[in-house]
Amino acid sequence: FHVTWDAEAAEKEGYDHFMLKEIHEQPKGLYETLNRRIEKDGSIKLDGIHLTKEDIENFNKVFIVACGTAYHAGLVGKFILENLAKIPVEIDVASEFRYRDPFVDDKTLFIAISQSGETLDTLAALREAKRKGARILSVVNVVGSSVARESDDVFYTWAGPEIAVASTKAYTTQLMCMYLIGLYMGRKKGVVSDEKYAQYMSELKQIPDKLANLLEGESAIHDLAKELYKREQVFFIGRGADVGVSYEGSLKLKEISYINSFAIAAGELKHGTIALIEKDTLVIALATQDKLYEKMLSNIQEVKARGAYVIGVAKEGNKEIEKQADRVIYIPDCMDEVSPFLSVVPLQILAYYIAKERGCDIDKPKNLAKSVTVE
Ligand code: AGP
Repeated sequence: FHVTWDAEAAEKEGYDHFMLKEIHEQPKGLYETLNRRIEKDGSIKLDGIHLTKEDIENFNKVFIVACGTAYHAGLVGKFILENLAKIPVEIDVASEFRYRDPFVDDKTLFIAISQSGETLDTLAALREAKRKGARILSVVNVVGSSVARESDDVFYTWAGPEIAVASTKAYTTQLMCMYLIGLYMGRKKGVVSDEKYAQYMSELKQIPDKLANLLEGESAIHDLAKELYKREQVFFIGRGADVGVSYEGSLKLKEISYINSFAIAAGELKHGTIALIEKDTLVIALATQDKLYEKMLSNIQEVKARGAYVIGVAKEGNKEIEKQADRVIYIPDCMDEVSPFLSVVPLQILAYYIAKERGCDIDKPKNLAKSVTVE
């Protein structure tokens, strides 16, 4: 007999696609990205970042710039940094930032987020911000990449190599870096109390296990995908931190299944988009934010009244949503502010299995590159 050595199959470690393998590597990536940065005394050590208390107090704003999924991590990062570091945060996609005359100066902390560290739009935006005197901090997954080399401070995501074009573990580890940067800055500024710090660290330490538990529900989501894979249009809606996750869920679905999916802040529906909702329109409604839960329930009622088929995503224990939505996917209970780590996972898995049922080339979607190094 002879053994054919399929290197790629070996690399996939038994998974059908790199994307599914990387979805399952998220607990480990999050654990590595978090635990390498916690000192013995429980404080955070931001290796690669040399921001002193004076530097941090000198900043009057943060500008987050990225593309695609990294931009969606930035959308959540904006919430995190404004809440924890009490600093105004602007955010823009790199392809826009680099062509406008942005208000950036030596009191701006410019944060570039990039998995590959080679995205040309992000690199060009970084160079423009540097030219205007901003402090450049980058969150990247590829050690020694161009974005990393051209930054003043580099904060690595320890997700391991991400092969699939559709980014998953890089996204969740980028989120982890945003929490760590926010907590570090907040502590240096004296605006994060010991109690708030302890609460966040406790919640963040539970995320790898909670995410691993969530992955055990994979087959139920696969079954749901078998019901939905023929759809040609999907709406993702959410409020608060769930808006950024809605954008990310929508991008995952469109880039690997080629379904026309669309994300919008739920409160915006009534300003026009609701005209598109009709009988059997598929709406995926993220309702994980306790303080916005009632508003989301009314948004679900709003689209149901127009005949939509609604799949809700909510925290375990929030049973009310079952009266409004047609189906509900539950995530483990957690603090509102850290729910994006968990609510994105069912969306990643759903996109994967819908694309699989459609027979798509999941790891190498048509016309897409893993790193967009062209303009
Ligand atoms: C994400 O699934 C896409 N592949 C794409 O949007 C990607 O996030 C974007 O091109 C940014 O890449 P980067 O993180 O390597 O800069």
